[in-house]
Amino acid sequence: MIARSRSLAEIPDDYILGIVPASDTGAVEMALWSLLGARGVDVLVWESFGKGWATDVLTQLKLADVRVLDADYGDLPDLTQVDFSRDVVFTWNGTTSGVRVPDGDWIAASRAGLTICDATSAIFGIEMPWDKLDVVTYSWQKVLGGEGAHGMLVLSPRVVERLEEHTPAWPLPKIFRLTKGGKLDAEIFKGQTINTPSMLAVEDALDSLAWAGSVGGGPALRGRVAGNFAVIEEWVERTPWVDFLASDKRTRSPTSVCLKVVDGWFAALDADRQAGAAKRMVAILEEEGVAFDVGSYRSAPPGLRIWAGATVEREDLVRLVPWLDWAHGRVKNEFAEV
Ligand SMILES: Cc1ncc(COP(=O)(O)O)c(C=O)c1O
Repeated sequence: MIARSRSLAEIPDDYILGIVPASDTGAVEMALWSLLGARGVDVLVWESFGKGWATDVLTQLKLADVRVLDADYGDLPDLTQVDFSRDVVFTWNGTTSGVRVPDGDWIAASRAGLTICDATSAIFGIEMPWDKLDVVTYSWQKVLGGEGAHGMLVLSPRVVERLEEHTPAWPLPKIFRLTKGGKLDAEIFKGQTINTPSMLAVEDALDSLAWAGSVGGGPALRGRVAGNFAVIEEWVERTPWVDFLASDKRTRSPTSVCLKVVDGWFAALDADRQAGAAKRMVAILEEEGVAFDVGSYRSAPPGLRIWAGATVEREDLVRLVPWLDWAHGRVKNEFAEV
């Protein structure tokens, strides 16, 4: 699993990669708990997952020198304000707002702090600038389409240095420990696991990796994602009632595509009725067996969220978009009449 993931994700040879408990959340928490506290921290927040990491840093680890750089759903914080002499915690692809960082150009090539990146719905779908990333975490069930269970934790050589030089001021449960006797626990990165993994999940993830290889590997996965996104983008451009939640074109996520309703009847509804109308669209798409779970995330603005990752067939999206127009038309009639 480690060797094949490394090859598919094009992870540099001097980075290490391990399988850890508790999915992406587990991998991010291990990194935050094991690494932070050595210097100040900048946390970037623009949707629910980044907000969760900021909450951990502020209210669980209770670090004193923390700056939260935040933005509302649809926007990114001002990336020019990030200070790379500090540790920087951010999500590559904000799955709940459909907003992602555009690239790695805003990240300092030479930096004193570590960059800690939750890449769970980005990796394999979007190219990762590995030299700009010190910690990268992800889980198997996103772009790969494997069974959820375990997290993957990728560490640069600078992270290993930090682990061996810095002892956190708080106790670390066994499930979070990456060192033994002050040294990296290298076994984790050779396939030893901290506790018992699900071999069914491993087998399923191996199957996903084999599928990824069979369609052409990393470039082909990214190509599939770009092709899927192009279908939705072309439809949004010619459809007056819908727009991306992401305000800047360069930040639109191609994997978790978040859309808002922008025509007049919807704008005229109060917030509760807007939420109701969006839910109704989702419900009738489900009733017809057209699309499942395409509603926006519970804490995001009302609208649609369409997964367009590498396992999705482009043709299915081509077939989906007329149904979105149909659902919008029906709900508009229902709500405009009342
Ligand atoms: C950006 C991001 N971070 C973290 C998570 C949590 O991932 P997991 O359920 O694998 O722990 C998700 C899940 O959707 C996510 O999209």
